[in-house]
Amino acid sequence: MIAIGCDHGGFLLKQEIMKHLTERGLEYKDFGTYDEKSTDYPIYGKAVANAVVSGECDKGILICGTGIGISITANKIKGIRCALCTDCFSAEATRLHNDANVLALGGRVVGPGLALKIVDTFLDTPFSNDERHIRRINLIED
Ligand code: RB5
Repeated sequence: MIAIGCDHGGFLLKQEIMKHLTERGLEYKDFGTYDEKSTDYPIYGKAVANAVVSGECDKGILICGTGIGISITANKIKGIRCALCTDCFSAEATRLHNDANVLALGGRVVGPGLALKIVDTFLDTPFSNDERHIRRINLIED
């Protein structure tokens, strides 16, 4: 189960991503926002992050205008490794190296074509399980 959330700046891209997840047969839970009315990104960043940390969802996707505010918010929650990605190389590397459990995107930064490729790369790349990467991830929490 994928947790997904956005503010008004990410609403339209979230619609594209949810359609894409459905086409791929992937289940998601939408934590809002549910329209383009101005709202506050921390609400959705916290809701998705908590769903991932609690184990209700395996991974999360967050979108705001830049992806910055919502990723900062998610990374405040212990156990969350949220990666703001604007390219597929970073999306792959953050899964391999950081075992990132939440992807953040900027709805005003990336177009839907690139965003969907980033989403697929993030969801389809497993963690490397390399000892050095496990050590570094553990150091984040220390
Ligand atoms: C909303 O205007 C915008 O500030 C928000 O979507 C995001 O970009 C914040 O980091």
